[in-house]
Amino acid sequence: MNMDPQGTVQLPPAYSAYAREVDELYGSIFWLSVALFVGIVGAMLVLLWRYRRRPGRKSKPTGHATVLEIAWTVAPLFPLAWLFHAGFAHYVDGAVAPEGAYEVRVRAMQWSWEFEHPGGALGPLNELTVPVGEPVKLIMSSSDVIHSFFVPGLRVKRDVVPGMYTTLWFEADQVTGGACESDDACPEGQFCGRQGRCALPIYCAEYCGAPQDIQDSAGRNTNHSTMLAELYVVEEMPSFEPIMPERCEAAEDPMACWGEHLYQSNGCVGCHSVDGSSGPGPSWQGLWGSERAFEGGERAVADENYVRQSILQPQAQVVEGYTSVNMPPYRLSDRQIEAIVAYLRTLSE
Ligand code: CUA
Repeated sequence: MNMDPQGTVQLPPAYSAYAREVDELYGSIFWLSVALFVGIVGAMLVLLWRYRRRPGRKSKPTGHATVLEIAWTVAPLFPLAWLFHAGFAHYVDGAVAPEGAYEVRVRAMQWSWEFEHPGGALGPLNELTVPVGEPVKLIMSSSDVIHSFFVPGLRVKRDVVPGMYTTLWFEADQVTGGACESDDACPEGQFCGRQGRCALPIYCAEYCGAPQDIQDSAGRNTNHSTMLAELYVVEEMPSFEPIMPERCEAAEDPMACWGEHLYQSNGCVGCHSVDGSSGPGPSWQGLWGSERAFEGGERAVADENYVRQSILQPQAQVVEGYTSVNMPPYRLSDRQIEAIVAYLRTLSE
């Protein structure tokens, strides 16, 4: 595979023009340092030999050489000024995304990456798909501790901090995603992702905790070192409308099955029972079609709109007596909300 970018002894393959510029600058600094090292250490060795102690020779101090001293003080200013200029110019390039970039919201949490595409469509967890040859801007936030978004192949890394947004942009110019069975089958710098396609690794580069040492049986991330996501660079962007799990397609009531799946997988189960028992949130049993009494005295019947609002903006109307826990908003698609409604209906029959 001649087309794939090649890495060097020091650097992984570069998947963007920016990465190649960074490498060039890195190379210049590296070789400048090598030249200075060889020059300085070489001169030292030569002088050491030339002015070594010899019997019958006495040293004669030479005094000042003002011109020479000024020269070696001023001369380094030029390469240093160039280094500063080049570094700063690249920093500015990397900090300011071009107008009209493809915008993705990135949410980091212990221990996964969530990617939301334009229009609010959620991509699969730990999977970022971006168009090739187009600037992509990431607007990143964290739901818990400090994480750091790092793609070595693109030479971009930025901390993701709770309580503020950080941004980062890149323009990948190489397509990824070739079919694979193992990492060996992938081009250099890529690994074999969960879908059996080659991806660029997205690492978390900030230690963010580790209560367990291993991935759980479902292959989910359980600590900082496994907080790994897959980056796909594609010609044609897929649509991110979430789809029903396969096992539900054959179910008697596919939508209710999907709804129950969402209830489990989104963690609703943590606060809402389905058997009428009390918890941090109202039970879902008998909820559908019932009259809800809210904090502040208002009332409403639990219908589609009520369910929708309760998922997307849980704090808009809080059921009386449930103020101790603030439910965060969940971004579900319309179809997913319909599935939850279908599931709620089965709990009120
Ligand atoms: Cu997230 Cu380390």
